[in-house]
Amino acid sequence: EPVESFDYVIFGATGDLTMRKLLPALYRRFAEGQVPGDSRIVGTARSPLDDESYRERVRAALREYIGADEIADTTLNRFLGMVHYVSLNGADASGNWPALASLLDSGAGRTKVRVFYLATAPDLYGDIARNVAEKGLRSETSRIVLEKPIGTDLETARKVNDGVGRYFPEGSIYRIDHYLGKEAVQNIIALRFANPMLERMWDSESIEYVQITAAETVGLEGRGGYYDGSGALRDMIQNHLLQVLTVVAMERPSSLDADALRDEKVRVLKALKPLDPRNLRANVARGQYVQGRAGGKPVPAYREELPGEAPSRTETFVALKAEIDNPRWRGVPFYLRSGKRMPEKVTEVVVQFRAGEPGLFGEARPGSRLVIRVQPDESVTLPLFVKHPGHGFGLEEVDALSRPAGPERARYRDSYEGLLLDAVKGSPALFVRKDETEAAWQWVTPILENWRESHEAPDAYEAGTWGPDSARELLRRSGHHWVEDAAA
Ligand code: BG6
Repeated sequence: EPVESFDYVIFGATGDLTMRKLLPALYRRFAEGQVPGDSRIVGTARSPLDDESYRERVRAALREYIGADEIADTTLNRFLGMVHYVSLNGADASGNWPALASLLDSGAGRTKVRVFYLATAPDLYGDIARNVAEKGLRSETSRIVLEKPIGTDLETARKVNDGVGRYFPEGSIYRIDHYLGKEAVQNIIALRFANPMLERMWDSESIEYVQITAAETVGLEGRGGYYDGSGALRDMIQNHLLQVLTVVAMERPSSLDADALRDEKVRVLKALKPLDPRNLRANVARGQYVQGRAGGKPVPAYREELPGEAPSRTETFVALKAEIDNPRWRGVPFYLRSGKRMPEKVTEVVVQFRAGEPGLFGEARPGSRLVIRVQPDESVTLPLFVKHPGHGFGLEEVDALSRPAGPERARYRDSYEGLLLDAVKGSPALFVRKDETEAAWQWVTPILENWRESHEAPDAYEAGTWGPDSARELLRRSGHHWVEDAAA
């Protein structure tokens, strides 16, 4: 069903994210009939382009990122007809704001939902919000979407939030975390709270530990300028992995309303036990890849991918042990890890239930393990032991719960699709509230500070492996192991 007509104004419209994610997502929703044809997409950036030359860029990008054979020319041309461009530096008050204002106010513009999408460097967000407000661009239904990263630590995050918050009420600020747009992440909420059996077992009495992994095979992908100033902790853990952790760990919300949900999520973040800075290595491992192999081919070290092969202490891998200091979870480790140049692209949550009593069936049975695979092939599995048919009490493992994915089951091809339209619909449940971002930064910032002060380098790991030894050591100390080691 189509959403109401809207105007989407994108700041940072010539950037990688816009071309790779935002425009393809809007195109797909349009092609499926969800975007009314009198909607508009207005790109703004500093490059001196006009509608026509910007449309050509968009055409090329859609062909590249969606695939030329998936795009019908007539649909593409209709889509491009909705695309406009205003050359403008959003942070500069003296830019060509009148052109943008008159474009937005033309036609039925005044009555449409207006979404401002900020995909520039985050330190510009406050200035852009101010200009949008002071140039009279806000409408009654305007919303502002903030792409990550919101800042680089707690202080800068607050600055961004306060800067934007001066001109937009919190209820109209949509901080995007595309992991919340993933079907399998949303499914965690259903799995937990729609199944009383699981719900009753979802605590420290039954669960020994949880692992959340987001591994990627790619390296820098030419994003060195951004990534080297960021690193895996800021790029993946502070936002995506901590967000997944909140849905795994939160208490039952009183409803699925945006604020009921986010009230519970933020409680988890606030209950994260601060990591002892004097003993950080006991809880955090970080790595940087050196030469190795990816997809069967030799690949260079991280440092060799950087411009000028500059020396760098940026981590391309982090593994850490988090604990949630509340009655449900006290004593249960949540192991989080994320890295570039891992052996496979996989995001999954592993919930390890406690082992049983020894005796009846020989040795103690290992505890069951619920695996929620987020990507690539979304699935949920929970193997259980049953009696092997025949004489005696030999056991075998069967899949008690198994929900394999299939492309036909996926509602959206990309997590941005649903989220971009949620912003139009005014549905903020899957966006991150101010207090969530800040609580996450509050927990992460001391780790960053400690690294900065320690002058230690990250541990080296070979590209195409599961990270440095220190990551395995982190679990070994508690008698645990990462899921791929357990299988061996
Ligand atoms: C982005 C990070 O937020 O998420 C990238 O900046 C990372 O470095 C990407 O590659 C991973 O997203 P996904 O959806 O492919 O797991």
